Amino acid sequence: MTVSSPARLVVLVSGSGTNLQALLDACADPAYGARVVAVGADREGIEGLARAERSGVPTFVNQVSHYGSREDWDRALADRVAAFEPDLVVLAGFMKLVGESFLARFGGRTVNTHPALSPSFPGMHGPADALAYGVKVTGATLFVVDAGVDTGVIVAQTVVPVEDDDDVESLHERIKVAEREMLVESVGRMAREGFRVEGRRVHLGVAPRG
Ligand code: GRF
Repeated sequence: MTVSSPARLVVLVSGSGTNLQALLDACADPAYGARVVAVGADREGIEGLARAERSGVPTFVNQVSHYGSREDWDRALADRVAAFEPDLVVLAGFMKLVGESFLARFGGRTVNTHPALSPSFPGMHGPADALAYGVKVTGATLFVVDAGVDTGVIVAQTVVPVEDDDDVESLHERIKVAEREMLVESVGRMAREGFRVEGRRVHLGVAPRG
């Protein structure tokens, strides 16, 4: 997939937005090749939105409970995102599954980051589930969003150790440090070099910008 230069990113968040902040910081360097053109959320009052506002990036909120159905919400979210004409949509701690309407428009150009090594521990509790299972390493996975829960083709993964005295918070914090680095590195490459999805593989840097 080819992208404009700099690539236009719409980032969706639900929480503290440290992944978003890492992208905003990276985008401050023109050589990074991307800029965040809007930040959307599924709830008001979160630090992720405040971070966008402090950076002068337009924000929007689409709350599921304000719509008659999940499908209506999904369609409205897709419309909202489309208005900013993104090359890439980045789900960065966005705690909702996007649906059919959204994927019909942005499938293949939407990535999500999950705090576990897929295909292990999908869902909302990746760090807790990894800790409970007793794995010795875990990490984060960047993937192209599909209709499943954390099942999309993998763009990148990063590994961290699980320490004996970890609790969920300390483990998730260690994951998040590595996750942010992976996100910035991979989104930058996708933006600058383009990418191609072939079966279960994502090839970065193979689609020269035209
Ligand atoms: C990240 O670990 C993300 O993978 C998970 O929630 C965390 C969000 O962190 N789903 P932040 O909002 O970017 O700080």
